[in-house]
Amino acid sequence: MFEKSMRALWTIGLSVTVLGVCIALTSFDTTESSELPLPSTASALGEQLFFDPILSGNKTLSCGSCHKRELAFADNAAFSAGNNGTLTRRNTPSAMNLSGRLQFFWDGRASSLEEQALKPIQSPEEMNLPIANAIQRLTADAHYAKAFQRVFKSTPTPDLLAKALAEFERTLETANTPYDRFIDGDETAMNESAIRGRLLFIGKANCANCHAGDDFTADRFKNIGLYNGTNLNDAGRFEITKDSAQLGLFKIPGLRNVAVTAPYMHNGMFSTLREVIEYYNHPDQVVKGSIHRDLSLNTPLNLTEQEVIDLEAFLIALTDDQFIKKIN
Ligand code: HEC
Ligand code: HEC
Repeated sequence: MFEKSMRALWTIGLSVTVLGVCIALTSFDTTESSELPLPSTASALGEQLFFDPILSGNKTLSCGSCHKRELAFADNAAFSAGNNGTLTRRNTPSAMNLSGRLQFFWDGRASSLEEQALKPIQSPEEMNLPIANAIQRLTADAHYAKAFQRVFKSTPTPDLLAKALAEFERTLETANTPYDRFIDGDETAMNESAIRGRLLFIGKANCANCHAGDDFTADRFKNIGLYNGTNLNDAGRFEITKDSAQLGLFKIPGLRNVAVTAPYMHNGMFSTLREVIEYYNHPDQVVKGSIHRDLSLNTPLNLTEQEVIDLEAFLIALTDDQFIKKIN
């Protein structure tokens, strides 16, 4: 069966760029679900589910189609193709380093990984499968029926499905970066440019004002000026709170592994880290008529060419060793 032949998606994916949009074509693998090892923990079960197209309406997409392991669980498209070929409204963020987060999605509409996990399954623009149908499929599948029994002593339920996916995501933490080694006292771990970039990040460039803490997000919502009500019209946090003071606010994204998760921002409008830094350096030259932009971005940064390079080197130093070869 088609569904069965697409199991074990953590093998290889191949990306084809069509009109700037990457559509993931998954390499077919002959593993039957009955050949998947029987998991003994919720996170091992969650990992199997994360990569299994059984959770999408037409059985072609898994969470891993958009959150690709080799790209720090993001993808490299501005918008990602869903189950029906329609594009997502927003850029796919990395699903790593989320265990300490308080809110999820660009607009913070989910407040736990469990709550988040069931939404893409049901969303028509993503996996397009009602949860009741997902549970029916898992119950009818000999492997998953056995796996849920073993891990949870229960038949599959929506809560347990969410729990398994969330527990897997909680294992996706990265701390093996040049930056972490530098902070731990190895002064040779970051190059000179990245060391200067770190000082700019927390000083002159004021990035740490918003990108603070271990994962470089203060778990707050801010408006950096990418909403103008005309060509940039995603109102972000406002859609959830309906508070006009929150027009154009988005979750401050964490920056770990950011060098492998281009393009950037909720709408994927910047293709490189350099473009992001250039934006912060002179936002008015890039976006006209921003509404409610954070006041801290009103003072020009006046970064020199070398400072732009140094900031970029610092962002690259936040890359976990497992991804670093992709960017060198
Ligand atoms: C079609 C592509 C696609 C698929 C399939 C998909 N996602 Fe996502 N994911 C996205 C997009 C786009 C967003 C951002 C949506 C938004 O913020 O409005 C997102 C957001 C997330 C977030 C929030 C990250 C953050 O920083 O707040 C998590 C966690 C996540 N997805 C996990 C999953 C899981 C688990 C599955 C499978 C059940 C899944 N995704 C399936 C595209 C996808
Ligand atoms: C006022 C708060 C604020 C400041 C200051 C700030 N950022 Fe951000 N940053 C954000 C928010 C909010 C977003 C998401 C905005 C969006 O998508 O509309 C973001 C997005 C990013 C992204 C894209 C991440 C991704 O996954 O798409 C990078 C990279 C980034 N910032 C780096 C920096 C750097 C470097 C600086 C300093 C020059 C900086 N930021 C200053 C709040 C801030």
